[in-house]
Amino acid sequence: MSRANDGRIPGISLIGLRGSGKTTVGERLARKLDRDFIDLDLLITLSERKSIRSIFDESGESGFRDIEENALAALVEHAHGSIIATGGGAILRESNRDRLRRHGAVVWLSAGIDTIRRRLAARSSEVDDRPPLTPLGTLDELEAILVERAPIYQELADFTMPADDLDAERIASEIVAWWGEGSFRREPKP
Ligand code: S3P
Repeated sequence: MSRANDGRIPGISLIGLRGSGKTTVGERLARKLDRDFIDLDLLITLSERKSIRSIFDESGESGFRDIEENALAALVEHAHGSIIATGGGAILRESNRDRLRRHGAVVWLSAGIDTIRRRLAARSSEVDDRPPLTPLGTLDELEAILVERAPIYQELADFTMPADDLDAERIASEIVAWWGEGSFRREPKP
C-alpha cells in the first residue's frame, strides 16, 4: 500500500459542490476499501447538536467555517486512512486544503450545474438543509459558486471523477480502480 507523508496510511477525501454525491459515493467507497467513512457535515451537526442551517443562522457563514475547520483538523489528526466526504465549501480555506492533502488523496466529484440543480430541486429537504451562501438563494447561486470554486477543486484534486450520471456504485468502483493503480503519490514535505 502506498503511504503519504509522515507515515500515515493515506485516506481519500471527496470534494465538490453540494449535490455532487459526496456522501453517497463516500459510503460506497469506504465499503469497497474497508475503511471508515466520515461525513464532515454530519460530524459537525452531531458535535454541535445543531443543523447546518441553525449554525448559519446563529453564527453566519464565517462562524460555520471556523467550526468546519476545527472539525476537519480533528478528523485528519485522528481518522487516518478514512474516507471523508467534505462540505462543498471546505476547500475555501488554505489550511483545510493543506489538511486534506495531508490526509491522502483528494477526489473531485465534478457534476454540471443542471445535474446538481435537478438533484437538489427533486427533494425539498435537499434545499432546506443547505442554507444559501449568497442573496441569490441555494439553487440560483450554484453557477456563481461553481465559477468561483472550480479552479480550487481542480487544483486540489489528485483525480477528477465526472459525476453527472450519479450511479454511485460505478463512480466508487472507478475511484477504487484509480486508487488501485497506485497513481496516487504525495511527495513528503521537507
Ligand atoms: C456548503 C456545503 C454544505 C455545507 C454548508 C456549506 C458550501 O455541504 O457544508 O451548507 O459552502 O458549499 P454539502 O456540500 O454536503 O451540501
